[in-house]
Amino acid sequence: MKVLVLGGAGYIGSHVVKAMLAAGHDVTVFDNLGSGQLGNLFPEAKFIAGDIRHADDVNAAFARGFDGCVHLAAYKAVGESMAEPEKYSVNNISGTLNMLNAACAHGCKNVVFSSSAAVFGSPQYVPIDERHPTDPESYYGFTKLEIERFLAWYDRLKGVRYAALRYFNAAGYDVDGRIDGLERNPQNLLPIVMEVASGWRKELQIFGQDYDTRDGTCVRDYVHVADLAQAHVNALAYIAKNDRSLTVNLGSEKGVTVTEMVEVARKITGKEIPAAYVGRRSGDASALYATSALARETIGWAPKYSDVETLVASTWKVYQKYKAPGEKK
Ligand code: UFG
Repeated sequence: MKVLVLGGAGYIGSHVVKAMLAAGHDVTVFDNLGSGQLGNLFPEAKFIAGDIRHADDVNAAFARGFDGCVHLAAYKAVGESMAEPEKYSVNNISGTLNMLNAACAHGCKNVVFSSSAAVFGSPQYVPIDERHPTDPESYYGFTKLEIERFLAWYDRLKGVRYAALRYFNAAGYDVDGRIDGLERNPQNLLPIVMEVASGWRKELQIFGQDYDTRDGTCVRDYVHVADLAQAHVNALAYIAKNDRSLTVNLGSEKGVTVTEMVEVARKITGKEIPAAYVGRRSGDASALYATSALARETIGWAPKYSDVETLVASTWKVYQKYKAPGEKK
């Protein structure tokens, strides 16, 4: 298939491009290189420099004719979305509407959308399945849920078939080492742990040690980006073949605490990784993990690389190539 990957130079997008190429697709990346990086591009894929906020850019891209697209061009920092919602309105919501309208105008009827577990808000029960009520606690999560609703309407009204993939905690790096661009200003646990291990940060702050979990720190469901990437390939094949849309959770189903993640990182890196327990971070749920039974049944998805050791080791391999953020050895 001819596939357009919007946000294909980003952290998750580049892994999606790799998986799409491996599946034999003819891939074009559309990216404004805001957080994506030229170094993440694969020479086997074509590249269009463009911005989803500009309808003309998106229209010109879709005019090249695609059978399917994957949309990952979005801001994703939960905290920032609460401080600067305008950015998220314009980029995530208006940008997606530009994308959907352009896709429809140019006959691209298969859309794989990068959604998030953030659509659920505080869990009422775990593991979280797709029927769990949606009540986002962040503006970021709200944008993802709104887009899922737009997709459902475009399915009804325009015949768009979509797969909304609700990622849990994406982590890890390409196990073949081909993708090694570090995210600028990372906000998530594992990259921060790696920055401490690399000596770029003095210590890790662990947010809360009085949660009702096995060691008092928060439980999350970390899923390897290569596994997420494969899900996009499977989901695109599913919606195209069955002419049916799909919303699925993508998690490893294994809850891991912050302390457990840090312990594994100490073992694998051989570094001390100083950590201090500080107060809870507002908005953090105690335990968040998925059941991915539906993804297993529908798109035949089974994570292969989402054990904590592979998550940490694949990430550490990339960090070891850098002497400072943005500066390779
Ligand atoms: N944590 C720390 N110290 C840090 C950073 C994180 O203790 O410096 C803890 C957090 O409190 C949390 C866990 O590590 O318990 C994971 O935190 P992240 O910030 O990496 O991830 P979140 O679980 O908060 O959020 C992630 C994604 C969101 C997504 C959400 C869905 O970043 O995009 O999962 O569950 F919406």
